[in-house]
Amino acid sequence: MCGIVGAIADRDVVPLLIDGLKRLEYRGYDSAGIAILGDTCVRRVRRTGRVAEMESAALAESFVSPLGIGHTRWATHGGVTENNAHPHISHGELALVHNGIIENHEQQRARLQALGYEFESQTDTEVVAHLIHHYRAQGASLLQALQTAVRDLDGAYAIAVIDQRDPSRMVAARMGCPLLVGLGDGENFVASDVSAIVSSTRRVIFLEEGDTAELTREGVAVFDTDGTPVQREEHLSDVSLASLELGPYRHFMQKEIHEQPRAIADTIEALMGVGGFAPELFGADAAEVLRDVDSVQILACGTSYYAGLTARYWIEGMVGIPCAVEVASEYRYRTAVANPRQLIVTISQSGETLDTMEALKYAKSLGHARTLSICNVPESAIPRASRLVYHTRAGAEIGVASTKAFTTQLVALFTLTATLAKLRGKLAALQEAELLEALRHLPGSVQHALNLEPQIAVWAERFSPRQHALFLGRGVHYPIALEGALKLKEISYIHAEAYPAGELKHGPLALVDKDMPVVVIAPNDRLLEKVKSNMQEVRARGGELFVFTDADSQFGESEGVHVIRTPRHVGVLSPIVHTIPVQLLAYHTALARGTDVDKPRNLAKSVTVE
Ligand code: F6R
Repeated sequence: MCGIVGAIADRDVVPLLIDGLKRLEYRGYDSAGIAILGDTCVRRVRRTGRVAEMESAALAESFVSPLGIGHTRWATHGGVTENNAHPHISHGELALVHNGIIENHEQQRARLQALGYEFESQTDTEVVAHLIHHYRAQGASLLQALQTAVRDLDGAYAIAVIDQRDPSRMVAARMGCPLLVGLGDGENFVASDVSAIVSSTRRVIFLEEGDTAELTREGVAVFDTDGTPVQREEHLSDVSLASLELGPYRHFMQKEIHEQPRAIADTIEALMGVGGFAPELFGADAAEVLRDVDSVQILACGTSYYAGLTARYWIEGMVGIPCAVEVASEYRYRTAVANPRQLIVTISQSGETLDTMEALKYAKSLGHARTLSICNVPESAIPRASRLVYHTRAGAEIGVASTKAFTTQLVALFTLTATLAKLRGKLAALQEAELLEALRHLPGSVQHALNLEPQIAVWAERFSPRQHALFLGRGVHYPIALEGALKLKEISYIHAEAYPAGELKHGPLALVDKDMPVVVIAPNDRLLEKVKSNMQEVRARGGELFVFTDADSQFGESEGVHVIRTPRHVGVLSPIVHTIPVQLLAYHTALARGTDVDKPRNLAKSVTVE
């Protein structure tokens, strides 16, 4: 969703702002803008549509400045118009960009209107610009005005501000939305996401909740909620420029699908390093937290939720304790029953998803102290709010459709399962060695599944003219059917639904005819015979079957039954391998339909609003 970048330097920062905004495009946005210092007043350019259009306008207007802020906006309050795009300006002097939502914006707007401020947008953000201006007018410094203004705000924000009357600084604030400071040599930066500034610096400070910061060319000062100066730790970001570039691929989604063997290998590296399923993989006090948990509650959204659904089969099957999985936006608004021995597991690629974060806060408010986050972005909000953390090492995921984050989440969840099983005496040494061996072979098995791409691309040609598709799976492969349907619908816009195959006859079978392609995830597990019967139900109604199975299953192609096989059945890790074909099917179908694969309509990468 929205993105922020800002820079103060001895050189022209406009190219840095534009480059930063381009790197934030993947988050999803519908308008973009920058503001810089001018001769007498702040100069601004904003455009709806792509950053490139805004860039052309900035070039045409000869934008050059050593201080500036930029923003990509994903509309919430007020439609997609140039007037609603950020930066917002107060009295031609003060420019501000904002991520998040100001909940009391209506009261603040009325208050400011009574003071004579005029509004040109429908956004919640514009009130913040005027509010800071109002405190400036009473004699406060830029930093003091920001610190006073944020006390008047309810809601979530990451803010960066520049002021024509104070050309030697930029100020920033954070509450509920990520914001970091980048440290350069004689120049400093702010950004909502490290990718926006990685071409200038990898030295970063993550601002904490309630922090404000003042940036000059020479240095950065950070203050806590009370305005007291604080030292925040400096980190060296591991986000590399290469991970943000396409390389030889057509799309980031394609690149990220193909990165999965490496991403999985990196994710299991720590496990291989300690030589077994050890609690310390999850944090220093994990042994104490995990030892006597009596149940697991998983909270997540979208693809991450499907990773959780897969894990339920593993946890209940191998650990023998109850595991519930719930969509975060539902959990956070219902009356949940607290259990101090329950482990709360949040799963999030971005670590910023608002619903997941709020579900975690709600669980903690109920008294849950055993919290674990499985996350791909270190230092993001959700792991920071969790007692234990497992960092998936998928690397930056740019495509909106989650791929390598999902399979590495599954690896993390499997590691959690085996660790809990071991702690409860349910994993003998021999079994542990077998599971480690299976994990060691997993990148290779995933690579074999990737090699099926040409065959899957042929299937995709047959899918591309269709308007609907059904996905079926049973047991631990049912969540993979759900994931396959989600991938297909979000990037190809084909309406796709997934069902547990046994549920077909209880309703969805009515949809099946010769025009309904039915994708089946049918590896050679103990439910294969049951799945075969469900496939017969489809064939008997003229439905066309597209079956993903493995070389160990004994059934072949026949009329209306198309089969693609992975080389061998990989046992308990089979759902991870069977994810690859459904990702490739969605990708190639979208390609054949000519949709915007990496930026599907209406969707954003980090969902930081409700
Ligand atoms: C689908 C997809 C989304 C995300 C969901 C949660 O391809 O990417 O469904 O999985 O928005 O996002 P995270 O994992 O960042 O919390």
